[in-house]
Amino acid sequence: PGGPLVDRYGRIHTDLRISLTDRCNLRCTYCMPAEGLNWLPRPELLTDDEVVRLAGIAVHRLGIRNLRLTGGEPLLRRGLPGLVAALTALDGPDGGPELSLTTNGIGLARTAADLKAAGLHRVNVSLDTLRPERYAEITRRDRLPDVLDGLAAARAAGLDPVKVNAVPVRGVNDDELRDLVAFAAEHGYRMRFIESMPLDAQGAWDRTRMVTADEILADLGGRWQLVPVGRHGNAPAEEWRIAGTDTVVGVIASVTRPFCGGCDRVRLTADGQLRNCLFATEESDLRALLRGGADDDRIEAAWRATIARKGPGHAIDTAGFVRPDRPMSAIGG
Ligand code: GTP
Ligand code: 5AD
Ligand code: SF4
Repeated sequence: PGGPLVDRYGRIHTDLRISLTDRCNLRCTYCMPAEGLNWLPRPELLTDDEVVRLAGIAVHRLGIRNLRLTGGEPLLRRGLPGLVAALTALDGPDGGPELSLTTNGIGLARTAADLKAAGLHRVNVSLDTLRPERYAEITRRDRLPDVLDGLAAARAAGLDPVKVNAVPVRGVNDDELRDLVAFAAEHGYRMRFIESMPLDAQGAWDRTRMVTADEILADLGGRWQLVPVGRHGNAPAEEWRIAGTDTVVGVIASVTRPFCGGCDRVRLTADGQLRNCLFATEESDLRALLRGGADDDRIEAAWRATIARKGPGHAIDTAGFVRPDRPMSAIGG
């Protein structure tokens, strides 16, 4: 045991993204159909104790330093502050993990202070538009005020930074990029734009409706002077600062500027399957090991073997691209 979680390309994995549920209370059109999906039956989900056991192995033995809770919508998970407290109490060789949450913001107004008190460090909130009718069209739910309240509560609770994620879609919300940046700057949130990826449940992704990083930057660049800041370590987001201000805008260009070469992530699905890549075509069943009574050595070995098989990265923009067998909402965003 010991040593970093390294793959055959020399990439060292320090980030674990944990999906807590595949359910969601929104139905974003670029993610899933109006009727929702066949949600995982509850007994198939990892329990809190199982999540903490696996995260503990990751932090204690595998060099994981950052934990990110995702979904589905992770705030739908019952007792989330308790799980957050157990995860932040883990103590790795370099101290406790950094813990962050990616959420659609609904319910955050109610829970932000509890999550902060439980040890959560920061949140990323998905918000594609500032217009209520448009929000209802994109998400098929009329909940914009809840998200805005959630953002404000996160900031007030001292979660810092608060990041806002938007997926621009051509003809839907691509006329709002500047408004979103201005909104985030006004409230002290950090705005990021994400290129949409072919990970929707319907298989309806259309390359021509994706707004590219170049287009995003051209639009913002027409309004402000953008100064390149670069990337924090291996983070997916590349950042620009608006000249003369401390406003920073990020772009996550998974499709047109893939960042797989520096990937430091491994993912755990809500049903306990370990994935070495968002686009992996195979999973490793850690839940079966856990429930079969495997000891930590055995789980550590399975984990290392999964990373050893990791491929070079996705091939979204090529003819040979194969979609993963589950959509993003079931893998973890
Ligand atoms: P921080 O910058 O540390 O806050 O993390 P992050 O940007 O990775 O977190 P977040 O959960 O907000 O992810 C934002 C988006 O980045 C996701 O919705 C994905 O679209 C994209 N993303 C995150 N991780 C990966 C990854 O491993 N591969 C690819 N291709 N995209 C990813
Ligand atoms: N491509 C890119 N980003 C997506 N998200 C959801 N589906 C997709 C997709 N197909 C975003 C959400 C949220 C983040 C977790 O992932 O909007 O901001
Ligand atoms: Fe890492 Fe896979 Fe995402 Fe590329 S697509 S950055 S290899 S998880």
